[in-house]
Amino acid sequence: MAHHALWAGRFREPLSASALKFSSSIDFDKTLYREDIAGSIAHVEMLASVKVLKAHEARRIRTALRQILREIETGKLDVSGAEDIHMAIEQRLIQKLGPLGGKLHTGRSRNDQVALDERLYLRAAIRDLTKQITNLQRVLVYKAEKYFGAVMPGYTHLQRAQPVLLSHHLLAYVGMLERDHERLLDCRKRVNRSPLGAAAFAGTTFPIDRALVAKKLHFDGIVENSIDAVSDRDYLVEFLSAASTLMMHLSRFAEEIVLWSSTEFGFVHTSDAYTTGSSIMPQKKNPDMAELVRGKTGRVYGALVNMLTQMKGLPLAYNRDMQEDKPPLFDAVTTSLEAVDVFGQMLVHTTFDTARMAEELRTDFTTATDMADYLVRKGLPFRQAHEVTGKVVHHCVTHRMYFGNLDLDTLTAFSTEFDEDIFEHILPTNSVQQKRSAGSTAPNEVKKQIVHWNRVLRGRKALRT
Ligand code: ARG
Repeated sequence: MAHHALWAGRFREPLSASALKFSSSIDFDKTLYREDIAGSIAHVEMLASVKVLKAHEARRIRTALRQILREIETGKLDVSGAEDIHMAIEQRLIQKLGPLGGKLHTGRSRNDQVALDERLYLRAAIRDLTKQITNLQRVLVYKAEKYFGAVMPGYTHLQRAQPVLLSHHLLAYVGMLERDHERLLDCRKRVNRSPLGAAAFAGTTFPIDRALVAKKLHFDGIVENSIDAVSDRDYLVEFLSAASTLMMHLSRFAEEIVLWSSTEFGFVHTSDAYTTGSSIMPQKKNPDMAELVRGKTGRVYGALVNMLTQMKGLPLAYNRDMQEDKPPLFDAVTTSLEAVDVFGQMLVHTTFDTARMAEELRTDFTTATDMADYLVRKGLPFRQAHEVTGKVVHHCVTHRMYFGNLDLDTLTAFSTEFDEDIFEHILPTNSVQQKRSAGSTAPNEVKKQIVHWNRVLRGRKALRT
């Protein structure tokens, strides 16, 4: 598309080629063509309803805008070379309709147009991302049900700590993802307000109906203050912060998948379709999807820091700096959508080696807390019980043995409170059974969580806009 700036009236020279190349945003903001056209249609319809445009004029503009949408979608309209998507569409409109096309921009500025397009884009991104999160949660709950009863070593400091149900561990992520989902829905309340009608920033002399445009575009209302409407990008920072937290959660899980896929752990096996080979080492089967989710987290954090930095010194109202908000936003949206999607698919194709987990529990001291609790039940103060158990562990470590190799005589040398039933008591399966507190790893507590999440997730309807 040949470049003739629609703002060139007060200029005597065209924009230099290098300045155009440097300042053009078409390569990335062409993504917004649908939002831009939807916004323009709502705007002309409103202009007709307040009689700034005649009904037949609005109809012709609307028809032409719909044609342009199709031209872009079918690749017939080449927008490259334009300053940005907003100019490209308006120029094409003028090309098609002549002077009538020039009426579209009445009572509007690119400043409110850009903010509008972004908010529409972000709203759709939130719709898609919340749907993906729900899908991932469903996969996790499905796995939690499938492996219900399987006991694994739980870790703190990445050191064996206490036995837990594998389901309990998986459901911890369902809770984290639920908060990510909530954060996005909460952010949506602030995203879903129309800035259109702010014009450049001070409003317009035309009797426009901002609320009507907002309604046509399914917004919950308008951003009241016209200066605020075009100046802030806090909704975007908020979204990126929610997306960063989501990625942080996925990244932690990804790290566990990487660890658990190692020969050293051997807790999970992911199908060939979600792992990759090495170009030199024929035996390799690498957990690349999990690694990439972990790695791509940096891109989303980067987008957040990018936006915060862009905005921190900007005077009101619009500044061209703000054009730079789009590449990080688009990248963060695409990255997080893909990450949640691939992560869920990878999990569907991942099996948990529960036999291996049980095997591992035979050669550790993860039920030491149960041993101490046993002594507390016999009347020892917890601190003393902790001390005695610590000595038993030390004895085992120095003699290269585990709890399973101990006999009662050895144990009673540490405390006369030990009885034959201690051996039952410190079995990993009993350890989880013996937990009593709400939200614990006790099977009945974990079962409650499964029931809860099934109810929540089955009833969850996806957002429509
Ligand atoms: N492409 C620009 C952006 O994305 C359009 C806004 C230009 N507005 C202006 N007042 N120069 O921000």
